[in-house]
Parts: sequence; C-alpha cells; structure tokens
Amino acid sequence: MNLVSNIILCGFMGTGKSAVGQAVSKELGLTFLDTDRLIEKRSNKSVADIFREEGEDAFRYYENKLVGELGYLKNLVIATGGGMILSPGNYAQLEAIGIMILLRATPETIFARIADSRRRPLLSNSDLKYEIEDLLAKRSPIYDKIKYKIDTDSMDIRQVSQKVIDIYKDYYELSRY
Ligand code: S3P
Repeated sequence: MNLVSNIILCGFMGTGKSAVGQAVSKELGLTFLDTDRLIEKRSNKSVADIFREEGEDAFRYYENKLVGELGYLKNLVIATGGGMILSPGNYAQLEAIGIMILLRATPETIFARIADSRRRPLLSNSDLKYEIEDLLAKRSPIYDKIKYKIDTDSMDIRQVSQKVIDIYKDYYELSRY
C-alpha cells in the first residue's frame, strides 16, 4: 500500500472542496492547493473568462498540465475542480499520489449552495436545477469510483473537515502496516 502524502478532494461543484480543503490543511499543517485558483493565477484570468475567451478545451488542457506537475509534490491538500477527474488520465495520476476523497451532495443541496453560478461557466443558469441534475447524473459513475465518500448534505464545513481528517488518519495508520 502506498504511503499517503496528499489528500485529494473531489466532487461536483458546490460540495465544499475548497472550504473543506482549507480547513483540513490548517488542521493538519499541510499546504492547501486549489486547482482552479492556481490555473487562474497562471492565466491571470478567472475560470469563467478562460471558458469564455479560450473555451472549455483550453481549460481542460490547463487542468491536465497541472495534474502532470503534481506528482512531484507532497503534503498537500488538493481541492480539484469538479471536472478534473473525469479524464481517466487525471484520475489515475491523482490516485497514485494520495488519498482521493469524494464530497457528495444531492442536486437540491447543490442548487441551494450555488448562489453565484456566474462563477461556474458550465451552469448557464437558464434552468439551474435541471442542469445540476443532468450533469451530476452523467458524472456520478466516475465520481462513485472513489472509495472514500462523504455525504455533506446535513453537515457544516467543520464536520466535513473532521470526517476527511478521520479518513486520512485511518488510511495513514493502515498504510504503515
Ligand atoms: C468545473 C468545476 C469548477 C471549475 C470549472 C469546471 C466542472 O470548479 O473547475 O468551472 O467541470 O465541474 P468547482 O468544482 O470548484 O466549482
């Protein structure tokens, strides 16, 4: 079994990956990396602007490139963009460098949480509820491959973070044998 060094938070938009990742990294003394924010920093524009000006393929290219660079890094808590692990190559590379944990929520919860969907170019907002249900249904078979899952619907950030830490500690203990 691999010795775990990175925690990789995956899941649909609005499942709390960034907020939870920040809290977990603080608690465990690890470095936080948010893939969307790093891509924005590198491009000097927002994810929404990248989608609008360069297209989704360009954004996915930036994501894939970033995943390729992560293999050298350790002791990170990584909040992935919601579509990052849909690429089998990204999934495999991320799986190899740490423990993947899926944050889940029902479409209703996601709908309630995504107040500002202008930041989320894949959701046009014409029928937000339907768009969430549709995209989530399409992606669920991939998300559900992840072994460690946390249903976040009735939990706050602190509670989800504690679950992540428990999973990490259990896995870390196990990986020492
Ligand atoms: C995307 C999710 C977004 C961002 C981009 C595409 C997706 O990140 O990477 O808009 O394909 O689900 P969050 O999951 O952090 O919102």
